Amino acid sequence: MVTTSSTRLALTRRPRRLRRTEAIRSLVRETRLSPDCFILPLFVVEGNSVRREISSMPGVFQLSVDEAVKEAAGARADGVAGVLLFGLPASKDASGSSAADPDAPVQAAVRALKRDIPDLIVVTDVCLCEYTSHGHCGILDGEEIVNDVTVAHLVDVALSHAMAGADFVAPSDMMDGRVAAIRTALDERGFERTGIMAYAAKYCSAFYGPFREAADSAPQFGDRRSHQMDPANVEEALREVAMDLDEGADIVMVKPALTYLDVIAKIKARFNQPTAAYHVSGEYAMLKAAARNGWIDETRAMMETLTAIRRAGADIIITYYAREAARLL
Ligand code: PBG
Repeated sequence: MVTTSSTRLALTRRPRRLRRTEAIRSLVRETRLSPDCFILPLFVVEGNSVRREISSMPGVFQLSVDEAVKEAAGARADGVAGVLLFGLPASKDASGSSAADPDAPVQAAVRALKRDIPDLIVVTDVCLCEYTSHGHCGILDGEEIVNDVTVAHLVDVALSHAMAGADFVAPSDMMDGRVAAIRTALDERGFERTGIMAYAAKYCSAFYGPFREAADSAPQFGDRRSHQMDPANVEEALREVAMDLDEGADIVMVKPALTYLDVIAKIKARFNQPTAAYHVSGEYAMLKAAARNGWIDETRAMMETLTAIRRAGADIIITYYAREAARLL
């Protein structure tokens, strides 16, 4: 019979020595999360004192500008680096014209946030899908999104965000050539300090479902396959990133995060540029739903997920968990 005292393997390497105590594990830890790499998405609506929870995203709210400032101040106090703003306009039309309105919720929120919380990084999502009556990301000719006309509109939207004081504009539309067009327009108007965080590799994903409820942006017909990327492709993601960097992107983004960790890793290794990953609504909702059923330990699953995204190579993580995770760190 084998006993503990009489049986000893002659091992040179015993990896478990480095796992013995939390202090040792921490000493040799390769990946560290820090709240200053988190960005919290916010959904801004018209009105005052509005704080409406999104049913498929527990803990996430549609907020009027005053409430968005409170939420962002809380996030900043938790250590979160910045916010990413989405807007829900009062009215929609075929060309999404309210997206460039200087008094729309996003532009108003940018001004209020930069005034009240100067050290908060304010990023704005640039897309038309929340603003068009048909829910598509651009201007339609029949059922087709017309690229170059859409880009002209996106430039106006980005300029309106820059004028309001955004630190970064984040085009999420996946039209060709939009980064160059936005960069040129910003520079011509004297906004050379405004950065571009490009949704460079944005996949056509099932995991955006809850967001479309939050932002009221579900397409009324068809889907987004004509501009968002096929989930099967990674070489194409590298080409998209190369183009966006050439066109002047300061930060490139991969979205979603968890199902595209290999894409994040390859982009970081190939380009070694500031790289963001968007842990999207469906990824958040899955964890919330499983936790509510008592099927997983939410805190551990959240930290494991965020750690994995960072380990893959993301410098910046956009996540609805930003505040919860920051408070634990
Ligand atoms: C706008 C946009 C979307 C998301 C970010 N920007 C939705 C979409 O492309 O349909 C998704 C974010 C999330 O799911 O959390 N185009």
